[in-house]
Amino acid sequence: MSKKYFGIFMCVILMIFMTACGKSEENRPDTPQNVQTEEVQTSSEQEKDTVSGTETSGQQDSTGAEQAGTEQNETEQTGAEQAGTEQNETEQTGAEQAETERTDTEKTAVVYFSATGTTAEVAKLIADETDADIFEIVPQEVYTSEDLNYNDDNCRANLEMNDDTARPAINGDLSKVSDYDRIYLGYPIWWGTAPRIIQTFLESYDLSGAKIYTFCTSGGSGVEQSVKDLQEMYTEMDIVSGKRLNGATESDVTAWIEGLD
Ligand SMILES: Cc1cc2nc3c(=O)[nH]c(=O)nc-3n(C[C@H](O)[C@H](O)[C@H](O)COP(=O)(O)O)c2cc1C
Repeated sequence: MSKKYFGIFMCVILMIFMTACGKSEENRPDTPQNVQTEEVQTSSEQEKDTVSGTETSGQQDSTGAEQAGTEQNETEQTGAEQAGTEQNETEQTGAEQAETERTDTEKTAVVYFSATGTTAEVAKLIADETDADIFEIVPQEVYTSEDLNYNDDNCRANLEMNDDTARPAINGDLSKVSDYDRIYLGYPIWWGTAPRIIQTFLESYDLSGAKIYTFCTSGGSGVEQSVKDLQEMYTEMDIVSGKRLNGATESDVTAWIEGLD
């Protein structure tokens, strides 16, 4: 009997031991399986994190790239804009710059006579492009279309052009032009040269301190003869050169102004 009780006792001990071992096994955290599971979970979580990280990173990258792009664009745009601005400044102010360099020391005026408006348009364009003051030579007696009918030998314009002494009167006082160092003087070509009223103007004011550049409009005749005539008549004046500017654009004017002394 004692052997039987001993056997039962041993069985009970064994069961208690095994039970204890089982619990101990459950509580052990670092079994390879658990570690692996944890690692898988962790890895999986990490994957999520990584994916999320990639997204984030992607977003960050994207943001970074965008930022870089934006910065680059900003830089490029700014660069392009700057270049454009510089170029524009150069292009836009080509005539102005040339003029600005001069106007640091020189005062510039555009003075013109225009019977039917063609020369007036060019004069205004030159004044706009050069930021010059503009003066119109207005006849005391405005020319009518009959006056300008050059097919009529006795029209006023023809009579004046055939009379070396004709000096049609100017309306108003243009004496301020004497203050200018540089004058762009515009007129229509009449019978191959400048109208007599241009002589009235040149003889009325002291322009000895000014460089005079002429410009004209015409039905086709050049400016050269008028420049030559004026230079011969007014040797004491500095009448430098002239340019026919029919239908001139801003760039024509700019090119002309830039090409002058
Ligand atoms: C009396 C008179 C004579 C002219 N003589 C010439 C000429 O010799 N050659 C020419 O090409 N155009 C001649 N023209 C045309 C003008 O020069 C031309 O129409 C000019 O652009 C007019 O400028 P305006 O509108 O500013 O007055 C003459 C016009 C007039 C009224």
